This record gives sequence, C-alpha cells and structure tokens, in this order.
Amino acid sequence: MSDGALPHAHRILVGVCGGIAAYKAAGLVSTLVQRGDVVDVVMTESAQRFVAPLTFAALTGRRVHTSLWDDPETIGHISLVRAAQIFAIVPATANVIAKLAGGIADDLLTNAVLAARIPLVVAPAMNMAMYEHPATVENVRRLRERGALIVEPASGYLAEGEYGVGRLADEDAIIAQIDAVLRHGRELRGQRIVVTAGPTREAVDPVRFLSNASTGTMGIEIAREALSRGAEVDLVLGPTQLEPPHGVRVRRVTTAEQMRRAVMEVADGAAVLVATAAVADFRPAVTFAQKVKKNEGAEAIALERTPDILEELGRQKNGTFLVGFAAETERLEENARLKLRAKRLDAIAVNDVSHEERGFGVGPNELTVLYGDDGRIPLGFGGKRELARGLWDAIEQIRRG
Ligand code: CTP
Repeated sequence: MSDGALPHAHRILVGVCGGIAAYKAAGLVSTLVQRGDVVDVVMTESAQRFVAPLTFAALTGRRVHTSLWDDPETIGHISLVRAAQIFAIVPATANVIAKLAGGIADDLLTNAVLAARIPLVVAPAMNMAMYEHPATVENVRRLRERGALIVEPASGYLAEGEYGVGRLADEDAIIAQIDAVLRHGRELRGQRIVVTAGPTREAVDPVRFLSNASTGTMGIEIAREALSRGAEVDLVLGPTQLEPPHGVRVRRVTTAEQMRRAVMEVADGAAVLVATAAVADFRPAVTFAQKVKKNEGAEAIALERTPDILEELGRQKNGTFLVGFAAETERLEENARLKLRAKRLDAIAVNDVSHEERGFGVGPNELTVLYGDDGRIPLGFGGKRELARGLWDAIEQIRRG
C-alpha cells in the first residue's frame, strides 16, 4: 500500500485499453486485489488483443466486462459505475483519451465513463509523438479541466525502441493517486461547500465593462478538490473561458450584484464558503443603454461601490466557516489580517500579486493562510491544484481546532 492503511476494502473499476502497457494493468489489478479491494475490470476490444480477459478474471475472481451487450437486463455500464467508488483507466490510449474528451460513447468502457459520477483517474501510455501531439495535449487538458486526475506517463524506454515520455506511470504512482482520491473522498462527505470564483464585469455601456485579470483558476481548483473530498459543491462563477469540473453545481454570473444574489441563495447552511472571486470593488454609477460614441462620451466615468459579499456574510455569521482571499502587493500579511478582522472571517489566504509570475492566471502561485490572532499556515509555492489541496488541508486543520 502506498501510504497509510485504508480501513476498508474499496470497490475499484479498472478500464483497460489496447496498448502494450495493458499487461501492466494485470500487475496493478493483482496488487489491488491482494490488499483487499474488490476490482471490476472493463476491457476495450483492442485491449483483448494484448491481454486475455481470462487473465483479469483469474486475478479478480470476477467476470470481466467486455461488451455493452453482455447483460442488457442490468444495463452493464450503469450498474458497474454505480457499484464502484473510483474509475481508473490503465493504460489510457490516445484514441480513448480523445473519445473521452469528445464525450463519445461507442463501447462499454466509454459508455461507463460517461455514466460515471465517481472520480476518474487516467494513466496514459503511448508513443512519445502521439503523447506530444497537440490533439492529445488538448484532449488531456480537457479531461483534467473536467476533474479527471491524470497520472503523467514516465520517461524511459518505449516499446518502439526509442527513449522518451509515454511509458505508463509506475504502479506505485498510480496506486498512490487512487488512494489519494479514496482517502480524500471521505473528509468532506455530507458537507455543502460554496466557492466563488472568477472576475465580475460591470458594464459601462452594451460593449464596454470594468473588470480585472482573474481567470477563475484558483476557485475552480478549490471546487474540484472539495468535490474529490466528497463535498457537495456550489460554484458561483464570474465570466471565464474555463470549464468547471463535472459534478459541481455552477451558477454563472456577470456582475457583483448578481454574484451577491447567487451567493446569498446558496450560502445558507453551507459548511464552508471560500471566496476566491475578484469582485469588482466599483461599478459605473450609470450604465449607458446605447454604445457611447467617442465624440459624445464623457472623459470621466462616475463610479459607485459594489456590495461587499464577504463582509455581508461575515455580519450574518451563521455557522458557515468563511474563507477569504487577499491579493496584495505590499505588507501582505498585515493587510490580509486587517481584512480577516474587518470581514469577521475564519481564515484568509494571502497571495502576492506583485510578481508577474504569480497570482492571476493558470500559472503557479504562492499562498499563506492566516487565521485567529496569529495563526499562520504557509502553503508555499506551487501549481494551483496543489495549493487547492493544501488549502483544504489547512481549512480542515483550523476547523478541527
Ligand atoms: N470580496 C467580496 N465582495 C466584494 C469584494 C471582495 O466578497 N465586493 C471578497 C473577495 O472574494 C475576497 C475578499 O473579499 O475573498 C477580498 O477582500 P477585499 O478587501 O475586497 O480585497 P481587495 O479587493 O483586494 O481590497 P483592497 O482593494 O482594499 O485591497
């Protein structure tokens, strides 16, 4: 086992695709069975050219699923994913990754993935050129954006006799990811979490608006992580190009006022609310109904304050653990502590937006969580997905007291 004992046997669904690495899936399944997990295996047609279903049947002691038409009376793909806690595709070929990215369901495995509402772990294995092809890169990115956990392939000797990236990740690495998901699956179970994310837009006229550089990445990662820890997640999302994870309830809004209303509708009864949204602090006092022409436009736009959503929630304070974000360029922690107190928050995550390579956008970031009078948990510098994990660990630690 990768780290720490998991208390119960898990129900794991393993999807095997047709690639040389299919034989390694047999090792993985054997390890899972030996430690007590109940493993169901789904194989694509080409996978069966590399490894016989009999191998997996013997390893698992269970029937191996190979066709949509085997047991029509139980609707195989639906009952398989209902019974499982996690779906791991090992190995995932370029073709199956492309089908999943496009939502195509033309065999048992792809139908099962579409029907699944359980976490998806995808371990690609293929030739280096195929893995690096822009189509595959884009498809992997789309799966990741929708919440799939990708176990990156390793570099090394490939079956074609070359060295490069594309080898199926080590069994330990895949099992570590499966365990991380299974372990996290319990922590926030039964709890409702609200996340705000993205910018807001405040209209000047029908074609112009005031906004900011937020992309919503951090909030989307926080929502994704809460989901993978078993929470029911409401995401109130300002305008962004990003696709929120499947399984999160999304309310799309444009203005600060719309965000305020959407948040108030879902905040009641939430266990935790994490406000990552970069809400515009000001909006034009007047929105012109028609596009303003340059020869008739005013030289100044009169502004008024938008509602402070988090401050309003802090005033109501009805049991929800409130987490704010502070984007600062100077005296980071001092300014963030002022916000923590002024808005009566339970914790605040500070980031330094004075560095070009940190803060807004999809790149890495550096966060520190502040709470109470002098509580401080540095999360360090890293990708936003890792920081989202660190943030939830920190929130859990503070809530436990
Ligand atoms: N926030 C909010 N509603 C607003 C403004 C901010 O809910 N109208 C939330 C943000 O989502 C974030 C935190 O409050 O969690 C940020 O606090 P804020 O004091 O607004 O930070 P800045 O906008 O950075 O403030 P300042 O410009 O004064 O530094």
